[in-house]
Amino acid sequence: MSVAKPLRMEIPAFSNGHTNATLLAGSASRSLADAVERELGCRLAAAMIERFPDGEVMVCLDEPVRGHEVILLAATAPPVNEHLVELLALADACRRADAARIVSIIPYFGYARSDRRDGRRTPIMASLVAELVQQAGIDHVVTLDIHTPALEGFFRIPVDNLTAVPVLANAFGSHIATGAVIVAPDFGAIRLANRYATKLGLPVAVCHKRRLGGAEVSVGRITGDVSGCLCIIVDDMISTGGTIVESVRVLNEAGALPEHVVAATHAVLVPGALEKMADAGVRALFVTDSIESRAESGARLTPSVVSVAPLIATAVARLLEGGSLRELA
Ligand code: R5P
Repeated sequence: MSVAKPLRMEIPAFSNGHTNATLLAGSASRSLADAVERELGCRLAAAMIERFPDGEVMVCLDEPVRGHEVILLAATAPPVNEHLVELLALADACRRADAARIVSIIPYFGYARSDRRDGRRTPIMASLVAELVQQAGIDHVVTLDIHTPALEGFFRIPVDNLTAVPVLANAFGSHIATGAVIVAPDFGAIRLANRYATKLGLPVAVCHKRRLGGAEVSVGRITGDVSGCLCIIVDDMISTGGTIVESVRVLNEAGALPEHVVAATHAVLVPGALEKMADAGVRALFVTDSIESRAESGARLTPSVVSVAPLIATAVARLLEGGSLRELA
């Protein structure tokens, strides 16, 4: 049997003034890790991630981490299963290399939406991922605008959830005119919408959404007055764009200005999502770099990407000092 050469790719790791601290990055977070590293002014080291011909993942740390605080920055972004296994492999490698503590920063937490059974015979994938993360030896998890903060209950280890609301609100602030309203596209987004609304001093409207399938949603009605308003639709993530498009349709029917601003922390953006939103009348889209750019070239809607690297760098610095992350949450 011939064995093809495995795919190898470098991933960054660093140590900073804390001689016993190392940052490792999964391959879904390489650019973000580079930016965090620049923010912190750290020395980069290397580790390897390999894919064997049969698709199995192999990782190898090129530096000792014995006795170190390891900060493992790895989004479980699409392809989610690949990146989840990488995260588990990196954590296992660190644990077996005798790291003192492994803090996993998961800027995008795949499977977060699978948080209940809805009365059907389905798994609760977010709970399963939480179990796997803990089994792999991770001691502390840091997430970013996770789909629902209640996921913390699936873990027996500390979980901190950072928020990108301040950085995104600053980014789209210039689009706000009098008569703007923050729109939660479903009940799950109300908490996020309230945070934006409080920061910007704007009212909130809520869409009554029902999910009919993976790519199909339906919005029945809206609570709140949007007539004649510029709508800023806020969400934790955009995948197919279906939620935004359906919200826009109902907002237009309710007399909102037909051009809409959208802000979402996680730009999952499956192919076709940007075009769909452009067709619907979304004129500006603000996202973060929690997921590396999946924007399609030539799409009529180009997302403005705001970096969460300074936020994550601040969180890392505080974690290494044993400080609080409360102000970042
Ligand atoms: C769902 O509850 C989430 O907060 C998002 O609204 C949803 O996942 C977005 O997915 P899509 O863009 O496919 O509608």
